[in-house]
Amino acid sequence: MPYENLLTDTAKGIQTITINRPDKLNALNRKTIEELHNALSAAEKEDAVRVIIITGSGQKAFVAGADIAEFANFNVEQGRALSAEGQKLLFDFVQNLSKPAIAAINGFALGGGLELALSCHVRVASDNAKMGLPEVSLGVIPGYGGTQRLAQIVGKGKALEMIMTADMITAEDAHNWGLVNHVTTQESLLAKCVELANKMLTRSPSAIAAAIRSVNANYKDGVNGFEKEITEFGKSFATADFKEGTTAFLEKRKPNFTGK
Ligand code: COA
Repeated sequence: MPYENLLTDTAKGIQTITINRPDKLNALNRKTIEELHNALSAAEKEDAVRVIIITGSGQKAFVAGADIAEFANFNVEQGRALSAEGQKLLFDFVQNLSKPAIAAINGFALGGGLELALSCHVRVASDNAKMGLPEVSLGVIPGYGGTQRLAQIVGKGKALEMIMTADMITAEDAHNWGLVNHVTTQESLLAKCVELANKMLTRSPSAIAAAIRSVNANYKDGVNGFEKEITEFGKSFATADFKEGTTAFLEKRKPNFTGK
C-alpha cells in the first residue's frame, strides 16, 4: 500500500517501516501516525511478516518528536484528544503487537520519537543517536506514554531527570541506562536489527506473542502479571508450536514453527 510519509519493505519475514519526512526530521504529524497505524495493522495480519523494524529516513533523525507546528494552537480538549488518540492508534498499539517490534534509532529520537521507540519491544541505537523528552521546554509534558514507559525502562529517578531537564542523552548513556539494548555504528544499525530479528524468526511465533502479552500484563492496571503468565503458559500447551518444539528437541532436529 503506498503511503505519503512511510516506506515499507518486506523481506524474509521482516518488515522494515521507514518514517519518511526527512525535511521535518520525520516529526510525527497526524497523517504519519495514521499511516503508521495502518501499516502496523496490515503487518499484524500479514503472515509473511513476523518481525517489524521501525526506523527513520536519512542520517539525522529517527523521529524529532510530535509535529510542533500542528499542535501549537490547540486548546485543552484538542490537546487531550491528541494524546488519547495518538496513544490508542500508535503507541499502545505498537506495545501490544503480537509480533516483535524493534526500533532502529538512527539519529534524534525526541519527544514522540523517543516515545515511539519506548513502545517498541527492543531498541537498537546508532552511535550518533541522541534521545530525550524535551516537552517541558515547550511548556507541555510527554503525552504519548513517555512519563510511564521511560520510568518503567530506566527507573523513576533517571526518567524524572530526563523529563525535568529536557536534556538529550547520547547513545552510550542510553545504553548504560538500559534505555537501548545495543549501540552500533550508523552503517551497522539495520544489520544488527536484522540479526536480532533473524534469531526471533527461528522461535515460535505463538510463544513470542504469548510472551509479549505476559510481559505487558505487568504494566496494566488491575491485571496480575503472574496470573497472566500462568494462563499463557498453560494455553501454550495446546499449540501446534509447542508440539513441534518439543518433538523437534526430542528428535534432535530444528523445529519448523507455524505459529499455530
Ligand atoms: N515538529 C515539527 N517540525 C520539526 C520538529 C518537530 N518536532 N523537529 C524538527 N522540525 C523541523 C524544523 O522546524 C525544520 O523545519 P524547516 O526547515 O521547515 O524550518 C526541520 O525540521 C529541520 O529542523 P532544524 O531545527 O532546522 O534542525 P537542527 O539540526 O537545527 O535541530 C533538533 C535539530 C532536533 C535539535 C531540532 O529540530 C529540535 O529541537 N526539534 C524539536 C524537538 C522537540 O522539541 N521535540 C518534541 C516535540 S513534543
